[in-house]
Amino acid sequence: MREKPAGDIPASLAEALRAAKHVAVLTGAGVSAESGLPTFRDPMTGLWAKYRPEDLATPEAFERDPRLVWEWYEWRRGLVAGARPNPGHLALAEMERRVPRLSLLTQNVDGLHQRAGSRNVVELHGNITRSKCFDREHPAESWPETGDVPPRCPRCGSPLRPDVVWFGEALPASALAAAWDAAERCDLFFSIGTSGMVQPAASLSRQALSRGATVAIINPDVSNFISRSQVLIQGPSGRVLPALLEKAWPESGTIHVE
Ligand code: OAD
Repeated sequence: MREKPAGDIPASLAEALRAAKHVAVLTGAGVSAESGLPTFRDPMTGLWAKYRPEDLATPEAFERDPRLVWEWYEWRRGLVAGARPNPGHLALAEMERRVPRLSLLTQNVDGLHQRAGSRNVVELHGNITRSKCFDREHPAESWPETGDVPPRCPRCGSPLRPDVVWFGEALPASALAAAWDAAERCDLFFSIGTSGMVQPAASLSRQALSRGATVAIINPDVSNFISRSQVLIQGPSGRVLPALLEKAWPESGTIHVE
């Protein structure tokens, strides 16, 4: 195991990034923590420390109490609307501009990567700002104000739900296929801000490793990552990622982040 504190970026990783032809990046809730959005599994502040996923994030929960589920996601949508991309998001958008190909595979539903300027984003767990109907998955961008909570699908009248993947549901097939493809073809794979507890996203780094890619983990808590073959960088992504870019492309100077 090679464990590095933030700011101490291994030269070999910076070189691997500079030389990479295809970089794949898997992100999780930790990447948005510095934007003020809660993670899921932080023991003190994580959403699953305060709420039970089986009450809020399953189809059965929605059938039991659709108003509760809709209103919880409305609260989270408000948090997302008030959040801004942080230096970690901005550094990943910049990384995409500097390497020949970058696939950004995110478990996050907040859209902050796109708002930071990332273009090739694969959303594995959907997007909280989109809605679809429960019965037939009709996408809905607007609906008549009838006072119903949740609102009704303008096409078929079934209740609307957020367009996110709930426990017990399959990931969008095209997103999953794109993620596997990137994990198998990339020469450098980053796993950033994810606890790696949720499948199938968690298997992607193992797949990349088995295909010969360099795999780097960026997380303030690296205690769960034990593989000797991974590069572990201990620190918040909002500090590590800009430092990594500066080390890989010193001639470009400081990364401009707004
Ligand atoms: P978790 O809450 O499980 O893990 C967040 C990770 O981010 C932890 O390993 C933290 O140590 C790390 N972290 C915290 N602050 C960080 C920072 N500033 N920089 C980098 N890392 C930081 O969140 P996910 O792994 O994203 O699924 O969870 C995966 C899925 O489980 C989510 O997409 C969600 C959840 O249930 C669904 O809702 C379907």
